[in-house]
Amino acid sequence: MALFEKKQPAPKHIAIIMDGNGRWAKKRGLPRNAGHKEGAETLRRIAEHCNKLGIMTLTVYAFSTENWKRSEEEVAGIMRLLRDYLLEVLSDVKKSPVRVCFYGDLTRLTPELQELCARAERETAHYEHQLNFCLNYGGRDEIVRAARAFAADVAAGRAESGDLTEEVFEKYLDSAGVPDPELIIRPSGEMRTSNFLLWQSAYSEYVFMDVLWPDFQGKDLDAAIAEYHRRNRRFGGV
Ligand code: IPE
Ligand code: IPE
Ligand code: MG
Repeated sequence: MALFEKKQPAPKHIAIIMDGNGRWAKKRGLPRNAGHKEGAETLRRIAEHCNKLGIMTLTVYAFSTENWKRSEEEVAGIMRLLRDYLLEVLSDVKKSPVRVCFYGDLTRLTPELQELCARAERETAHYEHQLNFCLNYGGRDEIVRAARAFAADVAAGRAESGDLTEEVFEKYLDSAGVPDPELIIRPSGEMRTSNFLLWQSAYSEYVFMDVLWPDFQGKDLDAAIAEYHRRNRRFGGV
């Protein structure tokens, strides 16, 4: 049987919806922010595991346009973790040789965080492996921002509305120039996209897993990739 199975090439780009931090903390009688802290540790481990597997791009959903609905304390805790992570990257960029990039509308972040994001992007720009953080990110918001940017170019005479194609529009997205993720993993048992990479996921394979993100191990990533290899991607063909 195995002889006739069509094997997919290894994914070059994996995206993860890092979900389940709150439930992980609740199970332990801890505040939700303890779950986010552990989730940040998981990201460090999994990003390293991805590098070892030769996965060139990892995109992670860290904070959605809807996550502002949470308590001030929780939002502040998540932003603090982000700040710590960026300061760690900037203190020694050679320690984790990864190009850090950001998707989302960063203008809602504090000026300090925006500056740290810009510095991290600048100072890691020469690395080959890429880690995309989705921050104040929503797939719909990304598409609307792209549409606005295109309309502004038309208004300024830099583009013609009739020339808009999928390829042209793609260049206005946060993910401009980055190939779509072949595989999107959502831990925590939820089976929805929650506004993640709506444009880019048109033909991504989804793997939903019951494990909570802070408990997510290298072996879970391996299992998701193995599941991906069992899929038959047809892209609308036969
Ligand atoms: C994901 O974990 C992290 C963010 C959304 C920032 P959650 O905080 O959503 O965890 P659950 O879903 O409540 O368990
Ligand atoms: C999606 O998780 C956002 C992130 C993981 C950053 P949520 O926990 O916010 O999604 P819902 O509320 O379960 O749809
Ligand atoms: Mg959640």
